[in-house]
Amino acid sequence: MKFPCRLDKFLSHLAELPRTKVKAGIKKRYVTVNGKTVTKFDHSITQDDEVTWQGNPLQYLGKRYYMLNKPVGYVCANSDDLHATVFDLLDEPNLKDFHVAGRLDIDTTGLVLITNDGDWSHQITSPKKQKFKTYLVETQEPITEEALEQLREGVQLHNEKNPTLPAIAQQLASYSLRLSICEGKYHQVKRMIAAVGNKVVELHREKIADIELDSTLASGEYRALTAQEVSIINAK
Ligand code: URA
Repeated sequence: MKFPCRLDKFLSHLAELPRTKVKAGIKKRYVTVNGKTVTKFDHSITQDDEVTWQGNPLQYLGKRYYMLNKPVGYVCANSDDLHATVFDLLDEPNLKDFHVAGRLDIDTTGLVLITNDGDWSHQITSPKKQKFKTYLVETQEPITEEALEQLREGVQLHNEKNPTLPAIAQQLASYSLRLSICEGKYHQVKRMIAAVGNKVVELHREKIADIELDSTLASGEYRALTAQEVSIINAK
């Protein structure tokens, strides 16, 4: 939300009401700004104004950032007709204009960042910014040295013009590796592993840039990012 902003826009956003209902309420004198009734739809609101709707204060909470340990079965979308979404796991006010900064598939677990700061999430998702995302990958077949080399050099994915950018691939056990990639193509890790003749059976994101999934968060739990974590993305 950008300030200053029109009163009717502010109300419809924070009270999650259609603009027509908001306008009717303003006319019915439901709204005060800093203690005074306001009846003009385009009255200018700043972040510091105290606005009430039928006596209830509506507060803009500013830019917020959360990390979630995503379980299997949740989709990274604001709404979905079939599945639960990651937003169902967040118990926070006014999540209307929040979004996921770098989606995970329904069957992938781990670190998901959720924010209402579009500039910040752009730093994560823009291919130009080349932020590394680190995954733990469990595979169906044993991982070969040749496959690791191919992943490090870049592999050609179906329906893509260019090979993937060099990745960091570290074998952890016969069937598991840690893979860091700095792109975010559709199903990228699964397609990369398929391109080297193997198959992903489990996928978990551990890290985005230098923001690590908090090991104290159980599956489905979330917390606000610290100021230091937020600044990791802004700094680079
Ligand atoms: N790559 C995938 O294939 N799936 C994810 O969920 C994330 C990265």
